[in-house]
Amino acid sequence: MAVIAGNWKMHRGPAETRAFFEALRIEGVPEQHELLVFPPVISLVAAAGARPARVRLGVQNIHWEDEGAFTGEVSASMALEVGAEFALIGHSERRHVFGETDEQVAWKAGTAVRHGLVPVVCLGETLAERRAGRVDEVILRQLDAVLPELAVASRSMIAYEPVWAIGTGEHATPRDASSAHATLRRRLAEALGAGPAGRVPLLYGGSVKPTNAGELLAAEEVDGVLVGGASLDPAEFVAIASAAS
Ligand code: 13P
Repeated sequence: MAVIAGNWKMHRGPAETRAFFEALRIEGVPEQHELLVFPPVISLVAAAGARPARVRLGVQNIHWEDEGAFTGEVSASMALEVGAEFALIGHSERRHVFGETDEQVAWKAGTAVRHGLVPVVCLGETLAERRAGRVDEVILRQLDAVLPELAVASRSMIAYEPVWAIGTGEHATPRDASSAHATLRRRLAEALGAGPAGRVPLLYGGSVKPTNAGELLAAEEVDGVLVGGASLDPAEFVAIASAAS
């Protein structure tokens, strides 16, 4: 079983969202794979009305508070109300463009869990951190910040997305992805036990395309992929899902 998730980022309004689902042909994708789409929040209602039952929806970001004077923000319960079941938490662009801290990421993860949204916590190192040999240190720091929240979640996922691989066309090698995932897996097993709590699916993200999805999905400890650009095209999304064995 693999998780194939599409993060549309700031692409696709409601009309384009409906067109995407009209064009999506998932009949050939083996039933055991889980298909998730994270449209912009403004398109969630359209997505909920147009999606096939097998494609489940998530929100790209939530605020950590339940409500309040937070202009431009969206709460977990609002996202649930319009059909989101999952929430991306701490995506690289939230951390690096909007300055989200590990602490805020943890608050958001906790809020998602409390409301019954499945948190998909994103983490990963920058190129400078990789060159300095600090991959494990950075991703474990980011993971440790959310472990107390994951410990009480009935379900959660982690997406390892090295910052240098996002939107660059340069993906991690299957070996590098496996190595980072093995580091995360060990810490999850230590902290949450080897049972289901410790078996949090680990997704890889960063320039996943139909041409590299097969080898990345076949890599050790890679349980799925979080796809940006290629998930905007229904045929590419299906080709990536079909590459999972
Ligand atoms: P790309 O697939 O466009 O590199 O984006 C990856 C990503 O950030 C998914 O969340």
